[in-house]
Amino acid sequence: MGKLRKLFEPGRIGRMELKNRVVMAPMGTGRHGPEGELTDRLPEYYAARARGGVGLIICQSSIILWESRAPFRPCIYDDKFIPGFKMVADAIHEAGGKAAFQLVHHGRLLTDYQSLVSHPEDIKPIAPSALSRLLTKEAPSQSKEEVVLWVRGNIIPRQASVEDIRRITQGFAEAALRVKKAGFDAVEIHGGHGYLLSQFLSPLANRRTDEYGGSPANRARFVCEVLAATRQKVGPDFPIILRISGSDFLPGGISIEEVVQQVPLFEDAGADALDISASEQGSIDWQYPSFLFPQGALVPLAAAVKRVAKIPVIAVGKIYQPAFAEDIIKSGKADFIALGRALLADPQWPNKAREGRFDDIRPCVYCLNCFNITAHRSYVLAEGISCSVNPRLQHEKLFVSHPTTSPKKVMVVGAGPAGMEAARTLAERGHKVELYEQKDVLGGQWHIASQQAQKKEDYSRLLTYLKRGLEKAGVPVKMNTTVTKELVKNAKPDAVVVATGAVPSTLDIPGITGENVVQANDVILGKKKAGQSVVVVGGRYLGMEIADQLASEGKKVSLATRRELGRAVERNVYLTLRNRLVEKGVFLYPHSPAVEIKDNGLYIVFNNDLFFLPADTIVLAIGAKPEKELMEQIRNLAPEVYSIGDCVAPRDVMYAIREADEVARKI
Ligand SMILES: Cc1cc2nc3c(=O)[nH]c(=O)nc-3n(C[C@H](O)[C@H](O)[C@H](O)COP(=O)(O)O)c2cc1C
Repeated sequence: MGKLRKLFEPGRIGRMELKNRVVMAPMGTGRHGPEGELTDRLPEYYAARARGGVGLIICQSSIILWESRAPFRPCIYDDKFIPGFKMVADAIHEAGGKAAFQLVHHGRLLTDYQSLVSHPEDIKPIAPSALSRLLTKEAPSQSKEEVVLWVRGNIIPRQASVEDIRRITQGFAEAALRVKKAGFDAVEIHGGHGYLLSQFLSPLANRRTDEYGGSPANRARFVCEVLAATRQKVGPDFPIILRISGSDFLPGGISIEEVVQQVPLFEDAGADALDISASEQGSIDWQYPSFLFPQGALVPLAAAVKRVAKIPVIAVGKIYQPAFAEDIIKSGKADFIALGRALLADPQWPNKAREGRFDDIRPCVYCLNCFNITAHRSYVLAEGISCSVNPRLQHEKLFVSHPTTSPKKVMVVGAGPAGMEAARTLAERGHKVELYEQKDVLGGQWHIASQQAQKKEDYSRLLTYLKRGLEKAGVPVKMNTTVTKELVKNAKPDAVVVATGAVPSTLDIPGITGENVVQANDVILGKKKAGQSVVVVGGRYLGMEIADQLASEGKKVSLATRRELGRAVERNVYLTLRNRLVEKGVFLYPHSPAVEIKDNGLYIVFNNDLFFLPADTIVLAIGAKPEKELMEQIRNLAPEVYSIGDCVAPRDVMYAIREADEVARKI
């Protein structure tokens, strides 16, 4: 059993026996048919996680009533959906796992999705009170769809009548029975994250004066009625898990102090376990804590519930180290831990943790690309969720590496994530691989990012994993070696994979060559120092992050960007970073191109006018340009030549690792 004794002890939820304390958190996959039916695209994804050794899989949320239908979720409002659900339950069981399905009603959040599904005009979103949802960010200017979503977020919902509450209560109970009929072992009621039930729990969203509003007990009444009606339908033996937000981190919103008062009510109403998450739509960054949050960011909420609960408690939220997970159980903070993104990155997390193979776990970097609908719209919509570090997510059956039948001599040039991933996979398949790196350090741009204050913890883990992969696969790495045309000619490889990455871009404006102008990367690496008063040029990830870092060091910081702030930044990361910049007093100048640099500052165009920002240092964080030179020189020097990652076009690591995997399976 290794050192993690507690984590791999059997556990129990109601009458359901579980082989260990590791639960898979519910995660929408985007993989279902147009009517919300589950199709054969989904079972293998869940089966792979069951084979990975997880004790219980809580499948993604599904919609309990037609009125709440939305495009990103499967449905269970009718018996016609049972066969699809059964396919998933069967696959999980065959793979040795146990399974629950989550149930949701969107309430006022339906406004977000309405433009994307055809609903008759008379369906108005329902909410405890006629209040629109909290908006999470200013109006975007990226795409028409997003603007539509944003505007619809302002629609005033209809206050639910007592008849509505009864109808929806029955809807939950009947949907739970369908989950049971489909062969699942348990059901989870979604009472968190700002959906209908959590709107009733929230003092901000629920302003009712009847028995469903006011005191914490009154606000919990609807949830309790749903639990009781579900219990009646599914019988005494079928476990019911309730997911709630232990806090929404909004002033005047759901607080852990109130939640602990409501716990006995949920228990009395029939809950068999409590799954303690966090957030509302206005604080959604707490739902999926990004690299900007510490490990176990939500565990204190579960621990507070555990102190008063008689039933098992599940802790969730950026739990990734097996030893950390073990400690949660051992120290009595929770009875189970749930893993979300860690299981997207590596379905074998539980088996590897149980066997003590901690370094073999492919680590989630908490970049939230799994969720980055904005930046990766095509991937997300075409293929469901995706993962930066695991290109085989949701392609579990299709994307398998086979040992090669004709081993080749392969040169991989550039040891960023793309080159490292390609070299390892090629070597594992039996090719004779050599990896070349011009610098004295592995990792390329990722190495620089992993030196950033905010990313160090999470990004370094990927580098450690990739380095270990090279060692295990026995790939020789030639450091400090610049690959030239001659070197390739002499080596006579059968294939070359060019992964030379990108270099930081600069601006073509007067003053750009001045001593007061530095690249953000050089500041991160400590090669250049920024003065006490700084203007950062660039408003994407790097610009926002370096501004945050410099402001944390006590400098006076302004940020100017020619586009909107946070363009292409994942929306949860954006929310956290923007709040941090505002809290630290960073002056923000969106839609303000830089036009001229002087010794003592920078001119920008702001509000159609020239505007001078005094500063000692101008820090450039304006993206990168591809290193294409080598590719152009050697494209005809070997039978097969490929280029992957940033040297094709600078994008994020998801593309680098995906392309590496594709090429490495092809050669
Ligand atoms: C892609 C994705 C989809 C999610 N969908 C749901 C969902 O349908 N229902 C839900 O309650 N939580 C959902 N979550 C939240 C997760 O269940 C989990 O609470 C969160 O990711 C934090 O856990 P982690 O840090 O281990 O990923 C989702 C998270 C992700 C990343």
